[in-house]
This record gives sequence, structure tokens and C-alpha cells, in this order.
Amino acid sequence: MERKEEQNRSFAEIDNCSKDHEFHEFLKTLEQQISWDGVRFVKYQGFWCALYLFRQILSAQKHFKAKDSHIILASLPKSGTTWLKSLTFSIVNRNIYPNHEESPLFTCHTPHLFPNLEFDLYWEQENPNLQNIQNFSTHVPFHSLPKSIIESECRIIYISRNPLDMFISYRHFSLENKFVKDATPFELDEAFDMFCRGIHIMGPFWDHVLGFWNAHLENPRKVLFLKYEDLKEDVTFNVKKIAEFLGCPFSPEEEEQGVVEEITKLCSFENLKKLEVNKNGHVYGIVKKSSYFRKGEVGDWINYLTPAMAERMDKLIETKFKDSGLVFNTQSKVVKN
Ligand code: A3P
Repeated sequence: MERKEEQNRSFAEIDNCSKDHEFHEFLKTLEQQISWDGVRFVKYQGFWCALYLFRQILSAQKHFKAKDSHIILASLPKSGTTWLKSLTFSIVNRNIYPNHEESPLFTCHTPHLFPNLEFDLYWEQENPNLQNIQNFSTHVPFHSLPKSIIESECRIIYISRNPLDMFISYRHFSLENKFVKDATPFELDEAFDMFCRGIHIMGPFWDHVLGFWNAHLENPRKVLFLKYEDLKEDVTFNVKKIAEFLGCPFSPEEEEQGVVEEITKLCSFENLKKLEVNKNGHVYGIVKKSSYFRKGEVGDWINYLTPAMAERMDKLIETKFKDSGLVFNTQSKVVKN
């Protein structure tokens, strides 16, 4: 499906959703908030949904029919989705592109390898024809996914990231791309306060993460739960884990030939960042392609947030994830590539 790269989108107002009266009336019943960067959110099924995505999410909930063979990558924005897309694509298609130089990674902006339900596929299309697509991504929380994703045998891979780095990454992404042209962004401390109150895109963070974590505990064959930090620590191990989860483990011969290492090299931050296709131009008319590749480090928050801010988040995480078995080490050191 062609991505409308040149089309300028409105991330600010509801002009893409105001066409019908019923929808407008429904909106009026929902709690709303303006985010620190000027984007309007509505609270829908317990999460903060950017208004510019709302109609698409409803359409996907209504029409998306997952097949058992589909792979769905899920995440909160800025958790390492792009990296996961490149790795998963390369794992699944390794026999089609044994020569890495022929990989679509060289010709296609990496995020587009797994088109996003709410940002790409249902944008201005109530019920698009998705027959030829196998790989999807979404930022929607587990409990608000289209039912067929949950009920079918399709596989979900979720990537999470420690909230401090995710917050800083999103802050840069939003400031760089200026989703709402006329908005004056809040200062960092106010924006962080909103984040801690759960008011951020697809937030609250803990509900999003716990939704997929619990789904993984209930059915580990259906939901694989990954952490950005774990991938940074040992990407080879995680590439093998993804391959096994998807039912296409690496053979001993492949391992011997270094296929896993080739994939990790191809999908490394340094490699993806320098590809022409990821360097220049925009998606959606306003989002710089290069802004999906910033620093790629663990612990970069330390350059922006105070110890008191980190402590506030640590306490929140401790309370919210208590008894879940899930741990986020926000105090980790910066790990360079
Ligand atoms: P930073 O802003 O901290 O650098 P998403 O893909 O979910 O939008 O997440 C974007 C974050 O992942 C950005 O983090 C980006 O730099 C980082 N990233 C992108 N590609 C990566 C890769 N191949 N390896 C590691 N990190 C990557």
C-alpha cells in the first residue's frame, strides 16, 4: 500500500474526524486534554488517544481482520519499534533476501516495513483492502486492539522501554517535528509531570506495558514481551528468541554461517541511521524520516532529567508494577552502540 508521503496531515485538530455528526457527538462525551506539545487527546477505553488517531483506531477496531499468519508489532511510541521492525522483517524474510544488499531496508524507510494500523492503513480509509499485507504494527493498548488480533492465532511481539528514556525520546521527536505548528510546548518539568500522571500518547505507560505483560504471562506463545534494554545488552540472543517465537528458528548451519550476526549488523542503529532512505525527506508531510534515529542509547534521560524526577518515576513504577514480576531498571548506565 502506497504511503501518502507528500500529504500534509493535521495532527492538531479534528478536521479528519469531524465529517459526521454522530462521531462529533460521541467525542463530546469523552474527557479531553491538550498535551504538552499541543496535541489534543481524548480518553478512550482508559487510554489517552491522540485525537488525530481516534477515527482510525475505531475503524481498525471495527474492520481489521487478523489472520493466523499475521505478525503484529506493538509498542508505545519511542520504545524501539523501528529497530524491532527491521529485525523481525530481516528474520522472517531471510530466505527471500539471502544477500543483504538486496534487502528492502535499503530502499524503504524502515518504519514502513510494518505499516501501522492507526497511522498508515486506516488513515482516511474506513475499511482498506489489506489482503497483501502480512506485517502490521500498532501503538494501541492490548485491551483496545481489534478483537480479531486477540482471538486469532496471529503473533504479537511487544517492545517496551524504560519510561525515562521513552519520555525523552518522544520529547525530542515531538519538538523536532512540531506536530502542532502554533503550539508553544510546555517546559520539560511540566511535560514530565503530565507523563507521570499518565497523560501522554497512548498512556498511561504502566497500563500499556502491563496489558501486554499480562497477556504474555497468560499466553506466551501468542505474545512475546521484549525490552529495548535487553536488546541493547544482547541483540543476538533476542534475534534468536524472536525467530523461535515466530516458528522460524535459525538452523545450526545458519548459525555457523553467521546469519544471525549479519542480521544484527544490518539492523544496527549505525547502519540504519546512515542509509539514504532513512536520512532525507518526510513521512506524513511533516515528520522527518531521520527523526526515527536519534541516539539509540540506554540511559540518555540522565542528560535531561533531575534525580528527583527519576526518583518520582521509580516510585511510580514500583507501585504500579508491584507483584507483576516486571522490573524496569531506570537507573541503568548509558550504553553506547
Ligand atoms: P532515541 O530517541 O533515544 O535515540 P521508535 O522506533 O519506537 O519510534 O523508537 C525510537 C527510538 O529507537 C529512538 O531512541 C531511536 O534512536 C531508537 N532506534 C531506532 N533504530 C534503532 C536501532 N536500530 N537500534 C537501537 N535504537 C534504535
